[in-house]
Amino acid sequence: MTPDLSSTPWISSAFSGGPRSSVPVPHFRKEFKLDRAVKTARLHVSALGLYEVEINGKRVGDHVFAPGWTEYHIRVPFQTYEVTALLRQGENAVGALLGDGWYCGFVAWAGRQNYGLKPEFLALLEVEFEDGTIAQVGTDPTWKTSPGPIRGSDLLMGEDYDAREELGDWSLPGYDDSAWQPVVGTFHPDIVLDGMVYPPVRRQEELKATRLLDEPWDLRIYDFGQNFSGRVRIRIRASCGTTIVIRHGEILNPDGSLYTENLRSARATDSYTCKGEEEEFWEPRFTFHGFRYVEVKHLKEDAFFELTGVVLHSDTPVTGMFACSNPLLNQLQHNILWGQKSNFLEVPTDCPQRDERLGWTGDAQVFVRTAAFNMDVRGFFHKWMRDARDSQRPSGGVPAVIPVRNFVGVEDSGPAWADAMIICPWTIYLCYGDKKILEDHYAAMRKYLVFIEQHRSLNHIRSHPEVDAWGGFGDWLALDGSGKVDGATPRDLIGTAFYAYDAKIMSCVADILGHTGDASKFRLLHEEIVNAFRERFVTPEGFLASSTQTAYVLALHFDLLPEKLRPVAARELVRDIEKRNHHIATGFVGTPYILEVLETHGYLDVAYRLLEQETFPSWLFPVKNGATTIWERWDGWTPDKGFQDKGMNSFNHYAYGAVGAWMYRSVAGLELDPQEPGYRHIVFRPRPGGLITWAKAGLETPQGRTEISWKLDGKNLEVEVLVPEGAHATFSPPTGYRGDKVAWGSGRHRLVLESSAN
Ligand code: BGC
Repeated sequence: MTPDLSSTPWISSAFSGGPRSSVPVPHFRKEFKLDRAVKTARLHVSALGLYEVEINGKRVGDHVFAPGWTEYHIRVPFQTYEVTALLRQGENAVGALLGDGWYCGFVAWAGRQNYGLKPEFLALLEVEFEDGTIAQVGTDPTWKTSPGPIRGSDLLMGEDYDAREELGDWSLPGYDDSAWQPVVGTFHPDIVLDGMVYPPVRRQEELKATRLLDEPWDLRIYDFGQNFSGRVRIRIRASCGTTIVIRHGEILNPDGSLYTENLRSARATDSYTCKGEEEEFWEPRFTFHGFRYVEVKHLKEDAFFELTGVVLHSDTPVTGMFACSNPLLNQLQHNILWGQKSNFLEVPTDCPQRDERLGWTGDAQVFVRTAAFNMDVRGFFHKWMRDARDSQRPSGGVPAVIPVRNFVGVEDSGPAWADAMIICPWTIYLCYGDKKILEDHYAAMRKYLVFIEQHRSLNHIRSHPEVDAWGGFGDWLALDGSGKVDGATPRDLIGTAFYAYDAKIMSCVADILGHTGDASKFRLLHEEIVNAFRERFVTPEGFLASSTQTAYVLALHFDLLPEKLRPVAARELVRDIEKRNHHIATGFVGTPYILEVLETHGYLDVAYRLLEQETFPSWLFPVKNGATTIWERWDGWTPDKGFQDKGMNSFNHYAYGAVGAWMYRSVAGLELDPQEPGYRHIVFRPRPGGLITWAKAGLETPQGRTEISWKLDGKNLEVEVLVPEGAHATFSPPTGYRGDKVAWGSGRHRLVLESSAN
């Protein structure tokens, strides 16, 4: 039953920080009496900011950063916890503490207080007694507030804790709160309190650290061996008043010191002041960092000190597995997965470390297919699509980051970015067979397509310079020789290619949802866009107006060329790759599709040469250089130039990890069928190549677990698969082997194919 929270006021402390400075984390408390035996009790909680709640001294729930991040001025989630066991007949107390979080702490480069001045809290406890009567305890002006030991807390800057300021048993009944202050009560009738249930951020795993330097003893560097999002829990014994400072960084300078320049203004620094007890434990509450190394300062030589890395991300369980005979590719897969873990935190962010950490639409669009192989991201994207709807401009434009508030001011983030509005729900539908995500967002997807038609295109050319002077982010971070961050591929070419793709997807979506009028309209629109693309960008011989790898990849991948010109275009793509001595030059936009395009057009060998390339620029170059996540830039670090521009150089950005989908789909050979989405019909299509001698993949699909493994045994290809109950499968043999398509029902199947080489 949905609770009515509209008459419960929000409460806050009287203090608020300023545009750049914060105040200590406020605590709130309230005592109440339950004079009968409790049958059931539920606590509904929300915050503008971040909350942690306690009842009678016990923490409620295990969410981190609840209630989450949304467009707070429009919608804020509330959570409901079953709390019967925490209550007792007689005196009880409920308490909460509030972090600034995204609501009023620093976000990206936008300073503090982007949604409001200070954190606010709302709670309603509903108790049903054994005798059937009901009682409610909600936030109201009788609650009291006090600052406590968290002297400052911010997602980007870090947290400062002074254990000498601890408040004792403040969430137990009978506590002396006579020095606490009254709270301020407010109503926010315009904000929707939304009971949506989606994967919250939780502590996911723990990492051990190695100490790198013994000297000097008051400045220590520790290595967790893995770049990740989270924070450090410490165990310490030191004299009262000792303050240790923990700084976080992704990499080290050549001299072994912590490299933090690429964090820009994110201080990423926590501190703990000891109260001088035998043993003290501490983990920050309302901050996280993106890091692999920490620097710990000011420990005395004789202090006892231990630290543990606490990995945080949205609770999207790992569902996929990929492995093959090339250990470097296995490390690449590991890095892709950890890039995902690090950046799927409330919203799909670009990076977890610097003063950015925003829900960049383009990055999410590029990576969504790979993401759905690695982890169960269905609920995560349901929630983010709801955010997307809230962030969509009244015109229909889709901003660059979601939630957007006022972080990036463009009305429409343009090709390959804004198209996340259409591509993400479509991909979730394909991977999970989830029609609801299409139903929920159809109006917003449609509105975006109409926006492009009416405001961003001229004669079906999207990002036409005459109607759209900016034209989007281009082929972001391409190394195509242009020397520009947005690459050389023309914006109108990228724009029109994605416009065609959008129209095609929308015609399918309209068909699926039974909007037949829309379906035929979008089919026609698609045809017209394809014709306009050909007229403007394709020569009669099959060459494109731009010779970049991305231009050819898009034209081929989105089926924009007449059948007979495709071989010419594919040959041109290969020519560019060969010219670069088998190196990739695509940016965010072309990267996800390049290997698939090569494979489809008869260049599987070239695809493998790119995938297995170890020299710069390539996927394996960072792997060879010790990366544990995916770098933002192909040239994040090179031997001759060192680190890239510190103004934009993350070592934990998942976009280039979009190659992961091809490893599952073609190297291992695990594919879905759009006609029977959600793996109701599985297509096993291993495409052995390169130096790889075996590969395997597994996936928890909505139908159950599926697996494929293959190995080369002399001239034979041995394949084994698992088809889950409720699914059926087709085996599609690779070229070069004797054999036909095979149809399989559920169960394990095995097949040996002979090479047709002789
Ligand atoms: C972000 C990206 C994003 C890009 C857009 C960068 O600052 O980190 O990943 O897509 O801007 O141009």
